[in-house]
Amino acid sequence: MSKIPVGILGATGAVGQRFISLVAGHPWFEITDLLASERSAGKRYGDAVKWILDTPLPRQIADMPVKLGRAGEADARVLFSALPSGRAKEMEPLFAAAGHYIFSNASAYRMAADVPLVITEVNPDHVAMVRVQQERRGWEGFIVCNANCTTTHLVGALHPLDLAFGIDKAFVATLQAASGAGYPGVPSLDLIDNVVPHDFGEEHKVETEPLKIMGGYADGAFIPADFKISAHCHRVPVIDGHFEAVSVELHSKASADDMVEAFRSYRRLPQELGLPSAPDPAVVVIDGMFRPQPRLDRMIGKGMATAVGRIRPCNLLDWRFSLLGHNTIRGAAGGSILNAELMVHQEYIGN
Ligand SMILES: NC(=O)c1ccc[n+]([C@@H]2O[C@H](COP(=O)([O-])OP(=O)(O)OC[C@H]3O[C@@H](n4cnc5c(N)ncnc54)[C@H](OP(=O)(O)O)[C@@H]3O)[C@@H](O)[C@H]2O)c1
Repeated sequence: MSKIPVGILGATGAVGQRFISLVAGHPWFEITDLLASERSAGKRYGDAVKWILDTPLPRQIADMPVKLGRAGEADARVLFSALPSGRAKEMEPLFAAAGHYIFSNASAYRMAADVPLVITEVNPDHVAMVRVQQERRGWEGFIVCNANCTTTHLVGALHPLDLAFGIDKAFVATLQAASGAGYPGVPSLDLIDNVVPHDFGEEHKVETEPLKIMGGYADGAFIPADFKISAHCHRVPVIDGHFEAVSVELHSKASADDMVEAFRSYRRLPQELGLPSAPDPAVVVIDGMFRPQPRLDRMIGKGMATAVGRIRPCNLLDWRFSLLGHNTIRGAAGGSILNAELMVHQEYIGN
């Protein structure tokens, strides 16, 4: 098939750059529109961006013009949004009303009653909500969100356990990478030699988003999953890769070997369909008490998988383990792209 044109909203930021690096070699999509703020609009992309990735900026992208990020400016119907949340709240509905299919990384609409919040392995059935959304809002386009970067990898590990044993409670303490705050992000003198606790907003996202994602969908409504999460979130001086220390109480008893088997046998729709960005396996269990680590393990599954290790008994709940996942790849741009691939496969998006 000929490639589907896509645009990137917020193309100059940390997540926008990830979109560019991932879409540039994509078998189904090609970048036709780059949009950003007034600061960048009208410039050549290579002159507007402070490129922060360790892969080169593709030359044909560097030469593209940056357009102003407002409805009417983009030619592509599919738009990957890496807008700041406030801007996304205002602009994404205008784009959707103008007929664009928005795959958003922003938090603005994640918890809206008619917006699917999708991790492709976990709740692909939720995308059906876009038909309800279009009807209710009178939109030709739609908005589909992906989760907060910390939520994405937490759910990546909790979902196999929930399917196998059920989850009654989860506790998580996070060590989140600097790139999760965008560019330039937290000032270096605040972050180097330090750990910066997050505001309660981040913890609220990590405690609520998984319940929407791991819950059901029936008759045009989401039914939240019925368990509780307690989150402690912190920013640490690591460039990429969120580390999470997790404890879980399981509904049915399980041994450590049972948990490893649940992680290792976890293959879901994206793996079965062989979607281009699907990691296979989606969860990688790493042996040894000193892994996972951000520098060593964040690129597992090309940054699209969740690494799990250090599975051991917990003195408060049943089991504890550590997980690690790339925040701007699977936790942001790569997650959106995989959602878009699913919706192409399911013919919500045509060429
Ligand atoms: N970083 C992560 O790991 C991560 C993970 C998951 C989700 N997210 C979410 O993804 C979104 C983007 O995050 P980020 O880290 O990439 O942020 P960022 O580095 O601050 O980039 C923001 C982008 O939005 C553009 N922008 C700002 N104001 C705009 C406006 N008024 N109109 C049009 N464009 C505007 C900026 O363009 P200019 O350069 O022209 O100003 C830039 O391209 C946020 O909602 C964030 O919460 C981030």
